[in-house]
Amino acid sequence: MAAQILDGKSLAASIRAALKERVAALVQRGVKPGLAVVLAGDDPASRVYVRNKRLAATETGVHSELIELPGTIGQRELRERIEGLNANRAIHGILVQLPLPKPIDAAAVLEAIAPAKDVDGFHEINMGALFAGRPAVVPCTPAGVMRLMEQARIPLAGRHAVVIGRSNIVGKPVAQLLLQKDATVTICHSKSSDLSELTRRADVLIAAVGRPKLVRQDMVKPGACVIDVGVNRLEDGKLAGDVDFQAVKEVAGWITPVPGGVGPMTIAMLLENCIRAASRELEPKPAG
Ligand code: GUN
Repeated sequence: MAAQILDGKSLAASIRAALKERVAALVQRGVKPGLAVVLAGDDPASRVYVRNKRLAATETGVHSELIELPGTIGQRELRERIEGLNANRAIHGILVQLPLPKPIDAAAVLEAIAPAKDVDGFHEINMGALFAGRPAVVPCTPAGVMRLMEQARIPLAGRHAVVIGRSNIVGKPVAQLLLQKDATVTICHSKSSDLSELTRRADVLIAAVGRPKLVRQDMVKPGACVIDVGVNRLEDGKLAGDVDFQAVKEVAGWITPVPGGVGPMTIAMLLENCIRAASRELEPKPAG
């Protein structure tokens, strides 16, 4: 039997509709959530992602500002721009689109973001909290993956989850979130030997490497849940995930399409993180 398709597009739309109401309630109480998106350089894919994020923000009632900077910007100047946003009371969330142009040290730039405004969850304070089991801000793509599986009631406790990819943006944090749901987690990467042997043991398989159609049908256990985080542009201009969707959907139990799977969930989670950050403005400040 063919797999059940996990429709991220429609789930993200319903999350965004609920967020729109939360924004309206915040605005009534005098807080308009604000998101700043920093785009350095002219990577065409980054430009598309940034445009989609800003469109979704505006549609949800979140104020968005684009800070467009030349690819030649120095690290010090970039950090200063971020410090300005840290001090800007109209901005609750700061997102620095990655990758940054070479030779900028992305880690040093991300550390300049005030942790409370770090809506991507990439600051070491937020990453540390996640890995200590006290998540503050959960990175958007991993949060979206987990929400999609939760909605479909995919069993995780005691199951074997295999993550292909070990990036700070997806692989490492999603492995941690799966562990928190009591899955047994294996992380594979470019140096892993016999990838197929590892993936065939997965009840949940997450592909996040950026290699088109890396996951073939014979690498998937029948009935497994297959989550495709890859977004790869093929030579003919079409988008392909890291999973050979047409073949794998014949054996998997659940599968996400590309596009329309994880991508829209990432944006919904970004807005959720930003709105949560803005809501904190109404919480009583701790004494001291
Ligand atoms: N580049 C690819 N994915 C992401 C993401 O989730 N956040 C940011 N800031 N940049 C990215």
